[in-house]
Parts: sequence; structure tokens; C-alpha cells
Amino acid sequence: MKFFVDTADIAAIRELHELGMVDGVTTNPSLILKSGRDIAEVTREICELVPGPISAEVVAADAEGMIREGKHLAQIASNIVVKVPLTWDGLKACRALSDDGHMVNVTLCFSPAQAILAAKAGATFISPFIGRLDDIHLDGMDLIADIREIYDNYGFETEILAASIRSVNHIVEAAKIGADVITAPPSVIKSMANHVLTDKGLEQFNADWAKTGQKIV
Ligand code: E4P
Repeated sequence: MKFFVDTADIAAIRELHELGMVDGVTTNPSLILKSGRDIAEVTREICELVPGPISAEVVAADAEGMIREGKHLAQIASNIVVKVPLTWDGLKACRALSDDGHMVNVTLCFSPAQAILAAKAGATFISPFIGRLDDIHLDGMDLIADIREIYDNYGFETEILAASIRSVNHIVEAAKIGADVITAPPSVIKSMANHVLTDKGLEQFNADWAKTGQKIV
């Protein structure tokens, strides 16, 4: 399973990257806003830091505008993945950009039907949003399972990039289903290391060690 980090925060990406935990990065307009940085500048910096796929999102509503913006973003670095929304125009842009040799991430996917269209349009990645479905009391994980089954039935090569991940449980469940990639905020990835029994066990070991009066070095 590949780990993408869902952020435009360079320091957070660097920290995880140094541990070998970053296979790629996803950004979106909200994350660029949060970073307070210029999109071209921060995206270039991310691309220099991480050699894997870096998603940068277009904002035009029409296919022509998305293609123009996508080609512009793709000039930033060779590892740019152009991110387009799952609309009819987004699918047209996906086909054109993909035919032109660019990697494309089709985002804001909320149904298996949408995921089929993205694969047919040549998407490199499909981004089903788990958390936002859970937010409206639907089961985001069912969507990941449905897309996995359909893509496997027909050998679609589009990678399932489980997105809108809000918890460690989301990552584990997506891994069990067989999502190819997860993208999660750095805080969620870091919290995968936490377990109450680890803390409790460490506390006990430290207390017992203090009683020995020994030092290792
Ligand atoms: C994916 O590419 C999106 O940037 C992201 O996962 C959205 O997550 P959110 O629903 O928590 O904003």
C-alpha cells in the first residue's frame, strides 16, 4: 500500500519523508489556502522534496480551462499529477490530459458509477472520498470495496486512492479492502503509531528499569 500525504505543509511532508513514509502527496485548493503559499511555488518545493506523484488540482469549470490549467501545472515538474473533478468536463479533461501523456487524478468521487467513468477516461488515480460520505451518514468504506470489486472484475489499471481519510481505522479498513493508495493528513499517519498498551507497557518498563539502578551507556 502506498502512502500519500494530504497536505501542502512542507515541514510536515519533510518529517514523514525522512522516515521513508511518503510515496506521494495530494493537494487541493483548500490545502493551498491553508498553507498560505503560492500554488506554483509550494508545489515546486513539494516536487523537489518527494520524487513520487504530486497531485495539483485545477480550478476551471470547463474542460478547455482544465486542460489549459493542467498543462500549466504539469510544467512545474515531471512528477505532477493533474487533479480534475469528477464532472463530465473533468472526464473530458482527464481523457485529453491522459492521451497527452500526463498522469491524472480524478477527485471528488462519491459513487462506483463515477469511478467506472474515470477508469474509462484513462485516469491514473481515482479518489473516492471516505470521510465526506461518512459525514452524511453513508458508508465511505463501502465505496472503496465496490470500486475494488469492479476494477478487479475488468482489470482496470486506474489506482484506487482512498481519500478524505479522517482516522487510523479508515486507513486500516482501506488496506484490508485493497485500496492501492491512501492519502491522509500527517496527523492521522502519525497517530497510527499510538496504542494505549504501548504507553502502559513503556511506563511499567521505565519504572522497573529505574529500580534496577542500572545504565545502558
Ligand atoms: C484528496 O485528494 C483530498 O485532498 C482530501 O483527501 C480531502 O479530504 P477532506 O474531506 O478531509 O477535506
